[in-house]
Amino acid sequence: MYDEVYRPQFHFSPPQGWMNDPNGLIWYLGEYHLFYQHNPHDIHWDSMHWGHAVSTDLIHWENLPIAYTPEGPEDDYFTGSAILDDQNHSGFFDAGESGIVTIFTHRDAGVQQQSIGYSKDGRTFYRYPHCVLPNPGQEDFRDPKVVWWEERKRYLMALTVFDHVEFYTSKDLKKWTLMSKFGQFAGIHQGVWECSDISELPVRGTDEKRWVLIVGDQGASKTQYFVGHFEGKQFVSDDAPETHLTLDSGVDCYAGQTYSNMPDDRCVFISWLNSTHLFNCTPTSPWRSVYSVPRELWLERTENGVRLFQRPVQELNALRGEPVAFDHMQVDSQQSLGHIPPQFDCEVVLDVSQNSAMQMGMKLCVGEKQEIIVGYDTIRNVLYVNRSLSGNMSYASDIPPYLEARVMPLDGRVSLRILLDQSTLEIFTESGDVVISALVFPDATQNEVVTFARKGVGTFERIRIYPMRSIWKELGDRE
Ligand code: FRU
Repeated sequence: MYDEVYRPQFHFSPPQGWMNDPNGLIWYLGEYHLFYQHNPHDIHWDSMHWGHAVSTDLIHWENLPIAYTPEGPEDDYFTGSAILDDQNHSGFFDAGESGIVTIFTHRDAGVQQQSIGYSKDGRTFYRYPHCVLPNPGQEDFRDPKVVWWEERKRYLMALTVFDHVEFYTSKDLKKWTLMSKFGQFAGIHQGVWECSDISELPVRGTDEKRWVLIVGDQGASKTQYFVGHFEGKQFVSDDAPETHLTLDSGVDCYAGQTYSNMPDDRCVFISWLNSTHLFNCTPTSPWRSVYSVPRELWLERTENGVRLFQRPVQELNALRGEPVAFDHMQVDSQQSLGHIPPQFDCEVVLDVSQNSAMQMGMKLCVGEKQEIIVGYDTIRNVLYVNRSLSGNMSYASDIPPYLEARVMPLDGRVSLRILLDQSTLEIFTESGDVVISALVFPDATQNEVVTFARKGVGTFERIRIYPMRSIWKELGDRE
């Protein structure tokens, strides 16, 4: 278990079967709950269940029995969210008691409508037998994310409906009223919109707040976001409709959701590391799909406006072993750092201040005709990933091998955090303004790490490569 080829060791993946979107993320009674779109019978999308796991630290997960199982071939539990009902607004709990209410799309004979369920103990889940938001004649009408809207003392639901988001409100989680619509003429529109998420966050270093609306565009396989506020009933974006803001500059970060009822003031986000174009084909078995590391999201004002920043949650650092360390390394071509299995957390600071090489960076999993390049172009100020020789690429014909994002140096430095976990690669700038996520399927036995510089000398001010412990083996050891 959890030692198959390509199996990530410090990211969540299901024990077996298919997985897509994270669902119902909530902290409740001391546990982080993680539900997920799941087909336990096969590694293909079909017959959607809600798989279930819990964690006390967002890092080590305990697999639990499935929370919701379809009742027939025409019945599916699609994506949804969870909320704490501590005032018994729903009437599902006894006086003075609280519980979790889950709000999800129930696909019944092909028709998408919103239904709810509840649990008192976070273990046993009951479905409320009545649909709470019937389908108004829309093919795509799904993925309710519900938050408590303190200012207006009611629940707010963001629902994706074909090419826009609809906002609904409710006082009891059972009767929902359409409040407004947003997005038909804003942002990226290459396919249907799915999996919206809404939360109100402070803007760091100010006393301002903004609502952040996150939405997936299935055609682009992109997670975009809008920063704005509600003017009466209407969500108003700070940015012009043609501004396209994305949470991840790769194409393998989709359908993410933020945690509800966090025990501290962080906003934590988990997404599905998969492209919508690579459905059902990644070369893993007996499971398919993996989630991002939990990421802390926050807002900061930049010269372009208020923007979303992110970094891995600090709990992840507990998995780090003794690092391989290098300081002030000068490279004018290539230099090997040795053989390091592809299960690490790497911090690297590139000095790009003067007379620097045109391109410099790290090659990971280097071997026979294999290398994953994470580079920085000092002329174009671009961070890039080249996965054209990243190992097994035969599972799909349209994998974009080259990914890039604009990254400006800070004080002449580009500081990166590179998480490589068997078949997942996530690169964060240290400031948190840019992330590139990419699936890779290298032969893990070929694992040299090499620094490189092209057209000039590259200065690597600091490199720390921390081997990462497995969350699954540690759990096994404890049993
Ligand atoms: C996104 C999605 C959702 C839907 C779910 C079904 O990946 O298409 O819109 O609820 O998957 O599994």
